[in-house]
Amino acid sequence: MANSLFLFSLFLFMAVSLAAGTQFRVGGTGTWAIPDSNAMSYNQWAEKNRFQVGDSISFMYLPDKDSVLLVDADAYNSCNTSSHIDEFNDGNTVFTFARSGAFHFISGIKDNCDKNEKLVVVVMVDRSNSSSLAPAAPPTSSSSSPPPPPSEGATGEPTPTPNAASSKVVGVISTFGAILGALSYVF
Ligand SMILES: *[C@@H]1O[C@H](CO)[C@@H](O)[C@H](O)[C@H]1NC(C)=O
Ligand SMILES: *[C@@H]1O[C@H](CO)[C@@H](O)[C@H](O)[C@H]1NC(C)=O
Repeated sequence: MANSLFLFSLFLFMAVSLAAGTQFRVGGTGTWAIPDSNAMSYNQWAEKNRFQVGDSISFMYLPDKDSVLLVDADAYNSCNTSSHIDEFNDGNTVFTFARSGAFHFISGIKDNCDKNEKLVVVVMVDRSNSSSLAPAAPPTSSSSSPPPPPSEGATGEPTPTPNAASSKVVGVISTFGAILGALSYVF
């Protein structure tokens, strides 16, 4: 029993790690500065990536030399640093996308923003909607063979609850099953 409890904890840990989302480094490197004229712009980088709700982006810069402003589209277009939705100046900013839609980031230094130290990230609609892997389950009331009730530790097999990350978790479960099988030889 203690063994399966351990495995269940491990499973939970893995599921939570997946749900936490991807952390992107701004521009691919994480450096927040005036882009090199030959290098890819921050927006060119952003267009190559898929951002989803729960993902985050990190910005690294010298805290006394630069900052990150979250602004609206107007302030973004005009590099207006006097009005902002949020301001970060700790030098190592990690911003998590809590909703879908557009996020506009500019440097807190207007001159840097004018030199293209700015970025729009478009976050796609919620994971649960974008995953077309799992077809909609039929209503349980009309099901002729309802699933067996959860056995209170009779088998020791945890019954994962479906959630937003279920399509990803399925992959983990199969991997997990292999680990479980391997471990049952040991114990
Ligand atoms: C910047 O935004 C503020 C608030 O919206 C506005 O009052 C100000 O005129 C703007 N400055 C410029 C230069 O557009
Ligand atoms: C998810 O899909 C449902 C039904 O298709 C829709 O009503 C809902 O607005 C969608 N949610 C998001 C965040 O797009």
